[in-house]
Amino acid sequence: MHQRISRRRFIVAAGAAGGTLALLTHCGSHTVQQLSLATATVRTKARTLFGSAVSIEDLDSPFPIAALIRARCGIVVTSGPLYWLRVQPEPGRFVFTNAERILAFSAQAGVPTRGHTLVWHQLTPSWVHEARDQASTRAILQEHIGTVVRHFRGRIHSWDVVNEPIEPRDGRADGLRTSPFLEALGPDYIGVAMRAAREADPASLLGINEYGLEGDGPSAAARRSAMIGLLARLRAEGTPVDYLGIQAHLVGRNSYSHEGLGTFIDRVRDMGVRVLITEMDVDDSSFRADISERDAAVAAVYDRFLTVALGHGPIDAVLTWGLSDRSSWLQSRAPRGDGWAQRPLPFDDQLQPKPAWDALRSHLGLPAVDDSGSAPISG
Ligand code: GLA
Repeated sequence: MHQRISRRRFIVAAGAAGGTLALLTHCGSHTVQQLSLATATVRTKARTLFGSAVSIEDLDSPFPIAALIRARCGIVVTSGPLYWLRVQPEPGRFVFTNAERILAFSAQAGVPTRGHTLVWHQLTPSWVHEARDQASTRAILQEHIGTVVRHFRGRIHSWDVVNEPIEPRDGRADGLRTSPFLEALGPDYIGVAMRAAREADPASLLGINEYGLEGDGPSAAARRSAMIGLLARLRAEGTPVDYLGIQAHLVGRNSYSHEGLGTFIDRVRDMGVRVLITEMDVDDSSFRADISERDAAVAAVYDRFLTVALGHGPIDAVLTWGLSDRSSWLQSRAPRGDGWAQRPLPFDDQLQPKPAWDALRSHLGLPAVDDSGSAPISG
């Protein structure tokens, strides 16, 4: 237990143990044993942090979803309140109330918060794209990122600075999505965004977050190759990029392999870019309705994916997009044809653990629900 760990890894782990980023940025290297001083909970034992998205709806739910997240998670990511549309709906009017509620929740739980997301082609108000010229668009982008990131400076573990910049089907040679920002500023809109975030908070990890990178089919292969190209370009030009967020919205019928996903993770890590799994869940609509059969099939997807992903060097954190099936976006986004609810997440709609939770536990070294020593879950 005296293995040396890097400063960044210490910050991540110590943040999970209840420390704060601001206090820890001047630390040198530390030993794992020192970390155990903080707390002997689930959160410090795991080499990879486990966490979930948390939304205002989760916090306000009549079901004890927030208590479940608090009991099981070593890191959380904001689901909802930091989308541009919510945080700066009109020019110069910044709304931080709901994001602050999530940060208060994670501070109380003693876990770090990931910020999601600063630049996305969705949920961005139309006024942003009505700027009359390149210089104005660049200024709007820099002002938005600067204001939001400065507001939370020292309190965000990692920022998904740019969400979903890849779309090979848009037909560009570099595989970038022809989003309004790309059309206005060219491919350097990503560099503009990353640099603005770094300037506003030098200590927070900065990343690109992307979906559809995981599977074995040709579409994922094209998306991986475009992502490698983007990361290589950013690294070569000295643009700050600390991690790639692999969303991992998995699909029951897809396969995940060392040759595809594993080799990709190796290449990303070889460029000096860390890897986080940021939004994991499993669309079970291709599986038969029977609940125990379906839960086993979903757990097998979790198991297979984690075997590959964790088999290619350390992953800083694995987060699911919600903890209970009750919170899953897939209920409305991809309803099952047979009318049954989707069961994509590790806890069911009664907040009971499912086989997917056992898969996560065994890969991440998390304790069973009844032996964590956590307070009983109540509203
Ligand atoms: C996406 C986004 C998230 C969120 C989830 C689904 O891929 O990155 O912001 O929309 O998936 O709710």
